[in-house]
Amino acid sequence: MKRIGVLTSGGDAPGMNAAIRAIVRTGIYHQLEVYGIYQGYAGLIEGKIKPLDVGSVGDIIHRGGTILYTSRSEEFKTEAGRKKAIEQLKKHGIEALVVIGGDGSFRGALKLTEAGFPTIGIPGTIDNDIPGTDFTIGFDTALNTVIHAIDQIRDTATSHDRTFIIEVMGRDAGDIALWAGMAGGAESILIPESPTDVDKVIERIQQGHARGKRHSIIIVAEGVCSANDVAKQLKEKAGIDPRVTVLGHIQRGGSPTASDRVLASRLGAKAVELLLNGEAGKMVGIRQNQIIACDIEQILTGHHHIDPTLIQIASQLSI
Ligand code: F6P
Repeated sequence: MKRIGVLTSGGDAPGMNAAIRAIVRTGIYHQLEVYGIYQGYAGLIEGKIKPLDVGSVGDIIHRGGTILYTSRSEEFKTEAGRKKAIEQLKKHGIEALVVIGGDGSFRGALKLTEAGFPTIGIPGTIDNDIPGTDFTIGFDTALNTVIHAIDQIRDTATSHDRTFIIEVMGRDAGDIALWAGMAGGAESILIPESPTDVDKVIERIQQGHARGKRHSIIIVAEGVCSANDVAKQLKEKAGIDPRVTVLGHIQRGGSPTASDRVLASRLGAKAVELLLNGEAGKMVGIRQNQIIACDIEQILTGHHHIDPTLIQIASQLSI
């Protein structure tokens, strides 16, 4: 194998640049040429492909977003689109590909492997919703962004004796909400993995208030409902007048944390090693701090589970 490609796909995540850097430099270390494919699968179909040298990935390890840009491509979901993509790869002499993204991106990666084009996936999404890996690239950074926001909101909540409802991302997963809620000392955390009980939320606010607590922070995962819906219910049921903050895409940007940079570097290096060993159709991940590889097919049929002990601890501590 002489030449490999790398692309980022789906929602961007802090740490994707560190993964690109690791792929390029591990490739060069093993005498490979590495090509960057710009704008994900859409760019691949259009042939937006350029060589990446050692210097082209310098000064990016600390930068959020992705220097390769990203997209969600409808055309790549069709056989005709994938045919064009493989023609582009062959035209550029690329023999194998690394795809950094979430489960939608892995569906594409598996299709490429099935069509005879070796592809390896790296989990990059703030949602931490990929089965088979304990963490995805970007989750830790997003989490720290949310915690920073909670700390700031807490200051003003305490000053005004107020309840705040903070809505966080995560798509259908509650990881960002649960971890941020625990680290930020939230009174209630609403996640899709547990039934929502607004009466319990109200009870906690009232109990806290009764013992002199001057603020209440409620974290809502976007996969449950909107923070405004919760606010409406608190007002209607208990006359509470909360303030709402929807953090939105702030959670997707920013300089990656050390933990995300290291994870991205380890996963990027492993992805190239797998390709050199002739492997394909695999996702690299981290389990119990060990870098592992598993079949993408298994990932796509599996389910991401949130650790139930974390839910239990968060509930115990927020009395
Ligand atoms: O998957 C990452 C994510 O930020 C989710 O948390 C969120 O639901 C979604 O992407 C938002 O997508 P978009 O950037 O297309 O609005």
